[in-house]
Amino acid sequence: MLWWQESLATGNELIDKQHKSIFDQTENILSLEVGKISKDVEGIFKFLINYVSTHFGHEESLMIQKSYPDFKKHREEHTYFTNELYNIVKRAVDAGSLDQEYTDSLKLLVIEWLADHIHVSDRNFVNYLNELPEK
Ligand SMILES: [Fe+2]
Ligand SMILES: [Fe+2]
Repeated sequence: MLWWQESLATGNELIDKQHKSIFDQTENILSLEVGKISKDVEGIFKFLINYVSTHFGHEESLMIQKSYPDFKKHREEHTYFTNELYNIVKRAVDAGSLDQEYTDSLKLLVIEWLADHIHVSDRNFVNYLNELPEK
């Protein structure tokens, strides 16, 4: 599922805002086309690179703060997305264009991220937060 829904809310305003912002970009990312790297494509790359460092960082801080038991596994997923994203963006920037392979890899990565990570892993964290007694 590639849209935001209230059940994904963590109750942490900043994290929720960040999750919504990547869903807002989905259409742009999924409509990327093969060809030279335009200003729009550059904008998408910048958004994603900035997003992984700020968003994953905020989420991980909250996990540490709340002693989340699955922190390590969750962090490994963040590292995987970050590395894959960097690889794709670097190859495309070096080549000066998006070929079919980069375009498909980027779309698949973002779909995996939204459908698996936010819907499953981030949701598990949300459930944990909601069950905390002090909430
Ligand atoms: Fe997240
Ligand atoms: Fe996450």
